Amino acid sequence: MTQTLLRGRTLSFVRWPDDTNDHAAYRYEKDGGLLFEGGRIVAAGPYAEVAAEADTDATRIDHRPHLILPGFIDAHVHFPQMQVIASYGTELLDWLNTYTFPEETKFRDAQHGRRIARLFLDEMIRQGTTTVAAYCSVHKQSAEAFFAESHARNMLNIAGKVMMDRNAPEALRDTPESSYDDTKALIEEWHGRGRQLYAITPRFAITSTPEQMEMAGALAREFPDMHIQTHLSENHAEIAFTQELYPWSRDYTDVYEHYGLLRERMLLGHCIHLSQREADALSESGSVAVFCPTSNLFLGSGLFDYQRYRKRAKPLLIASATDVGGGTNYSMLRTMDEAYKVIALNGEKLNPFASFWQITRGNAESLMIVDKAGTLEEGTDADVVVLDAGATPGMRLRMETVKTLAQELFVLQTLGDDRSVVEVYVAGKQAKSALV
Ligand code: GUN
Ligand code: ZN
Repeated sequence: MTQTLLRGRTLSFVRWPDDTNDHAAYRYEKDGGLLFEGGRIVAAGPYAEVAAEADTDATRIDHRPHLILPGFIDAHVHFPQMQVIASYGTELLDWLNTYTFPEETKFRDAQHGRRIARLFLDEMIRQGTTTVAAYCSVHKQSAEAFFAESHARNMLNIAGKVMMDRNAPEALRDTPESSYDDTKALIEEWHGRGRQLYAITPRFAITSTPEQMEMAGALAREFPDMHIQTHLSENHAEIAFTQELYPWSRDYTDVYEHYGLLRERMLLGHCIHLSQREADALSESGSVAVFCPTSNLFLGSGLFDYQRYRKRAKPLLIASATDVGGGTNYSMLRTMDEAYKVIALNGEKLNPFASFWQITRGNAESLMIVDKAGTLEEGTDADVVVLDAGATPGMRLRMETVKTLAQELFVLQTLGDDRSVVEVYVAGKQAKSALV
């Protein structure tokens, strides 16, 4: 099998970086090498050492002076919302009814689903995102389209057909039984096929009847190692409506708790307005709070208190995400720029190492895929992004004054976007330059 040897400035995290002086939190090689074979990383370290291990006929690609990092991970995104992004003037529930639900009805047409899945994964690659946790529409065929496209590209993606049987247009409603049957059929077809992972996906408490929530709970029991994804505590009107629909519940989180859905690999989008009790329940169950800053600002939902969640006596597991199409940008760089501002509005700062940890290793740890993605460690899959902090004239000018790696990362996060993504490797293969 032919090997590929990359040369460049390699950067990968080993743990959370406390501050910009926390050099033990990452591995950085000024002249680094990364060797792939069969889609996996077989060696990483100083270029001279890695090159000495490489076969003589290895394909050699020189990315100097650029940075080489693990591919970015987006922990919450709706692939059917590519034509919802940038829709004006509403908050969550009106936004769903006015823009999102009508758009998602189009995914009844399998061909539409295939077209958007292809364009969506093209866009992810363009932005340096090599893994997503994606919501499909209610239609089984939308998930089939997504997985088929993802599998053809050999990407590690997590996705699920949305389960929703009330408070949505007729054309977007399944039933408790059909959502169970369709989910199960999709799991059988796709979970563990190549690099595909299924996520049980009840959209949120409002769009499921108690009977459907029972079905989601049954699936969760049947597949204890599978991801689950839903939304929690995004908006005040949403929280009040949930309380009306589940009057017995102590709070919004209790609804998911009641149906046995809180556990490791449970990804809860938003988690903005949680009480102490709710945050404790998430933390004790190993559930993940997914921070979606551009969406939370765009829909006026609120400010996710990242540092408070992280520093509390029972810390929360956190992931970060675009939440396109409530989110306004596909880029994880743009997402962390907005994250920085949201955290600043809460009176804290997020250091640039922590930002890049979050969108690589941090998200991989929260999604429990760190054995495969999120680092440059040997034995993991070769999903890699190559970054240029001087991709535009403005960035180049700013880079003239940059002296440290932390400053360079902050420039990338604050000014960077897809133009900074020079190349992307998916399972060891060039993916961005291969886009047509
Ligand atoms: N809550 C339920 N569905 C959605 C969705 O599609 N986007 C967002 N932001 N919140 C939701
Ligand atoms: Zn969402």
